[in-house]
Amino acid sequence: MQGSNVLEGRVALVTGAASGIGRATAIAMGAAGASVAVCDVSDAIRATAEDIVAAGGQATSLACDVSDPEQVRGLIPGVVEAFGRLDILVNNAGVASGSERLHETSIEEWDRTIAVNLRGPFLCAKFAIPLLLTSDAASIVNIASTYGLIGAPLSAAYCASKGGVVNLTRQLAVDYGSDGLRVNAICPGYTDTDMGGHRARMSTEAAAAALAQRETNAARQPLGRQASPDEIARVAVFLSSDASSFMTGSIVTVDGGCTATFNYGD
Ligand SMILES: NC(=O)c1ccc[n+]([C@@H]2O[C@H](COP(=O)([O-])OP(=O)(O)OC[C@H]3O[C@@H](n4cnc5c(N)ncnc54)[C@H](O)[C@@H]3O)[C@@H](O)[C@H]2O)c1
Repeated sequence: MQGSNVLEGRVALVTGAASGIGRATAIAMGAAGASVAVCDVSDAIRATAEDIVAAGGQATSLACDVSDPEQVRGLIPGVVEAFGRLDILVNNAGVASGSERLHETSIEEWDRTIAVNLRGPFLCAKFAIPLLLTSDAASIVNIASTYGLIGAPLSAAYCASKGGVVNLTRQLAVDYGSDGLRVNAICPGYTDTDMGGHRARMSTEAAAAALAQRETNAARQPLGRQASPDEIARVAVFLSSDASSFMTGSIVTVDGGCTATFNYGD
C-alpha cells in the first residue's frame, strides 16, 4: 500500500467518477489527502462526493458531459470556485462501444465513442492545462485501455479511441515536459465494472455472450481474473504523486498480464 496523504494539499479533477474506475480513483485520491472535484453525466456523481466527505475528505461534484466543449469550458471555473487551484486531471470518463465489425458499425456509434473517449480527454486537457501550468506538481492521468494497444474483436471505434488516447498521452508529455506537467496513461485490462451499462443495451443473449467471453478472457490471462476498480485507482494515485516524479509519457498496463503474452487458450 502507498503511504497515506501522498496527495496532501493537491486538488484533483476526476471525470466519469459516478461509478467504476473513476469513482474508485476519486475515493482513493480523497483518502490520499487530495481535495477532489468529480464530474459525470450521471446524477450518481453526488454520491461519490458525499462518500469522500463522509470519509473525512474534501470533495465537490459537478455535472459535465466531457464531449461538450461548453460544458467542459464551464467545468474548470467550478473547480477553481471550490478549491482555488488544480494539480491533477484524471481523464477517466468513457463509453464502451459496439459488438460488431466496422462495416456494421453505425456512424452514430463511431462518433459517440470518439466524442466521449477521445474528444473528451482533449477538451478536458485543453481547458485544464492553463490552470495546471500554475501548479508545481501538475499531472494528467489518462485512462486508456489495453484495447488501445492491441486490436480486439468487434471493437473498432473503442480501439481507435483508446489508441488515440495512448498517443495523445505521449504527445502531451513532449509538449509540456519542460513546464513540469507530467502526462501518463493507464491501460487497464478487464476490470469488474458496469462499463456504462454497455451490456444493458444489448439483447439478453448478446449481453450474456459478451459477459461470458469477458470472463473467459480474464480467466485465461496470467493472473486469471478481472481487476477490481481499486487496483486501477491505486496506480492513478501513484502516477499523480511525487513517487512517480520521473515518469511522463509512460503507458502503464494494469492488466493482469493480458498483453504480456499471446492467449494460447486451452
Ligand atoms: N472496465 C474495464 O474493463 C475497462 C478496461 C479498460 C479501460 N476502461 C476504461 O475505464 C474508464 C472507466 O470505465 P469503467 O469501466 O469504470 O465504466 P463505468 O461505466 O463504471 O464508468 C464510466 C463513467 O463515465 C461516465 N460517462 C460516460 N460518458 C460520459 C460523458 N460524456 N461525460 C462525463 N461522464 C461520462 C459514466 O456515467 C460512468 O460514470 C473508461 O474510460 C473505460 O474505457 C475500462
